[in-house]
Amino acid sequence: MTATTTAIDAVAALAELAPIGADGTRGGWSRHLLDEADRDMRAWFERTASSLGLAVETDANANQWATWAPDGATGPAVATGSHLDSVPGGGPLDGPLGVVSAFAAVARLQADGHAPARPIRVANFAEEEGARFGVPCLGSQLLAGELGSDRVRALTDATGVTCAAVLEAGGIDPAGIGRDAARLADMALYLELHVEQGRQLAPLDAPVGIATSILAHGRWRVTVTGRGDHAGATELASRHDPMMVAAATVRAARGRALAAAPPTRSRATVGKLQVIPGGSNAIASEVRLWIDARAEHDADVRDLVARIVADAEAAARAEGCSVTVAEESFSARVEFDPALADRVGDALAPGFGAVPRIPTGAGHDAGVLAAHLPTAMLFVRNPDGVSHSPHEGASEADIRAGVDALTAALRALTSGDAR
Ligand code: GLV
Ligand code: MN
Ligand code: MN
Repeated sequence: MTATTTAIDAVAALAELAPIGADGTRGGWSRHLLDEADRDMRAWFERTASSLGLAVETDANANQWATWAPDGATGPAVATGSHLDSVPGGGPLDGPLGVVSAFAAVARLQADGHAPARPIRVANFAEEEGARFGVPCLGSQLLAGELGSDRVRALTDATGVTCAAVLEAGGIDPAGIGRDAARLADMALYLELHVEQGRQLAPLDAPVGIATSILAHGRWRVTVTGRGDHAGATELASRHDPMMVAAATVRAARGRALAAAPPTRSRATVGKLQVIPGGSNAIASEVRLWIDARAEHDADVRDLVARIVADAEAAARAEGCSVTVAEESFSARVEFDPALADRVGDALAPGFGAVPRIPTGAGHDAGVLAAHLPTAMLFVRNPDGVSHSPHEGASEADIRAGVDALTAALRALTSGDAR
């Protein structure tokens, strides 16, 4: 394949993506697995890859890949990229920044006449946020064989449509999802660039950072069942109101996380609640809520969740309600490969000096892959630290610095003597 010299400006590319999935109701962007916005993002991925002369494919798990393998590039690829889906009403950078920067870096290397000793492969991992089917990093977890295919096929979205049906409608054979050993083996390493989430780089006056670890984290669905009734006609003393239990659970999440931290950096959040039937003049019959819990180590997370659930059960007993809890996902603590982080740090040193090493509380496909191949992450400074919100941001200068950093790292990781 011949190299092209198409330049990609990451800031301009992000602006091009801005209309896709813009959420007029919630603000921000909503792009979920194979919905219209996600399909438009995927079409952009294909167009951009083609403009660079990369070979594009969608794997059996709905992940997209674009490979630059000029003459002399042999062996497993150096992979980079991120995801193009979002949380509901999310920010512009969580995900797209890593994909856009990857293409911009490849374009820069091509223009510079770089001759990679390994193929460079850009990834768009499917459903990283898990917003549609509840399970984060769906594409990378399937690829890595960390999710049961039957379970994934049977997952349903908020409208009751199965994941199998969504995949099929999107041109993915649901029977084929699952561990892809050949694709895993064809990656020498994975380097993901991502907007920083949390505010660690700004006080250090650093435009980029290198990840060290990810907190252990997971999601639990709590279903509280009570007795639906009339808001005006039902005596307070005779109610079995699941909303009271839900409120106690929300407070328990904050209280138990506070009691656990520090030094465990425990945090627990209820950010999603469904009230059935959801009438303002009706006592609910059922409330579903989701606990997102994170902590330094796996056992800390499990202990935190057990305490919150015990509080929920106590509240349910007091209200004459019942509670069931289902674990939707669990992601063990991740330590990124220190040797790869050192190589990335060395590659960045000429342009960036000593790049800070920082931990994160956010989950990533790089975290999933870390159990299978060397992985590293680059973070681009986020001035306010805000993410999973329309207010997420990074300066144009820092976005361009991120591309500079990724380009330098990919150049070093694919130079002849890096093999
Ligand atoms: C993904 O960004 C997560 O940490 O939930
Ligand atoms: Mn995210
Ligand atoms: Mn992300």
